Amino acid sequence: MSFSHERDTEKVFVRDKHWQRQFVADTGLLPQPVFAVVDGDRIGNVDLSAFLRRNPGAWILKPRFGSNGFCVTRIVVHPDGRMTLASDCPDTAQYLDEFPCDPDLRGGDLVTAITTRRERFADRARVGMSERQLNQSILEREIRQDRADGSMCEPRVVVQRTPSGFRTLGAICKRIDSPIGASVARDYREESLDVSLRRFFGDRFGHARDELFGTADRLREMLVPVLEASGTRVHQFGIDCRLCIDPRTGGAEFPFIEFQFANVSVPKSGDHFSELRSWWRLSPFAPRK
Ligand SMILES: Nc1ncnc2c1ncn2[C@@H]1O[C@H](COP(=O)(O)OP(=O)(O)OP(=O)(O)O)[C@@H](O)[C@H]1O
Ligand SMILES: [Mg+2]
Repeated sequence: MSFSHERDTEKVFVRDKHWQRQFVADTGLLPQPVFAVVDGDRIGNVDLSAFLRRNPGAWILKPRFGSNGFCVTRIVVHPDGRMTLASDCPDTAQYLDEFPCDPDLRGGDLVTAITTRRERFADRARVGMSERQLNQSILEREIRQDRADGSMCEPRVVVQRTPSGFRTLGAICKRIDSPIGASVARDYREESLDVSLRRFFGDRFGHARDELFGTADRLREMLVPVLEASGTRVHQFGIDCRLCIDPRTGGAEFPFIEFQFANVSVPKSGDHFSELRSWWRLSPFAPRK
């Protein structure tokens, strides 16, 4: 029992996608989509379907505490209020396919099912989430799918703990060809950052590269003291973003996706999530209002 409790606690803090987005919003270093926390099928006391119908367009809905691609779902809200859902996650896609939709609800029943009934289609052992966390989500505006030679790219800058502090090791790029683009682990190829950047920007790739590493280093410098001060021991993390072309300048833009953590351990007592939150607020790096 205590093991599973520890595992639960572990997932709640640095892997909380809401906390991650709030952190990046506060630092202002990378652009990121509009986001909202979803509990079951509600945002605060507003029904999620009602919220979506007031805000047409493409949205990504995903488990708040990370899932390695499980249940990452693209929701398109059409101007007439109809909602269509799609996923590259096989479990989710199958569930959506087989769901007995009521045509009169125009997708509303699918939205409720995908946010409140995950235990019906999740392999909980593989997804590694407690029941309490399983039906919590984050809703995000879809980051645009800029492509070169048919592929989107998602750079991951890799940061590693070393005896003399955290170092940026370099970067790899996920190259994604799937049409939905709400990708799962098996759906990408890996290539070096420079290869991806060249495909987007040709010989002008060096500027984009410097910009990404410069920003990632500043994010690392702000994040590490917050992690350390909260007692969280992290050995490695990735800064994940999507490679986009800035429509105004034609240069690179890197909308933030998430911090990807590996080998996290935390002290045994306390509410680590709220601790981390207050450490961030109190830290000298937090913006002063
Ligand atoms: N706002 C978004 N717009 C477009 N695509 C997104 C968005 N958020 C996520 N995606 C797509 O879904 C993929 C998975 O998202 P994300 O990395 O946040 O979750 P995860 O990998 O399931 O969680 P974790 O890595 O914490 O286990 C991303 O790599 C990206 O392709
Ligand atoms: Mg991820």
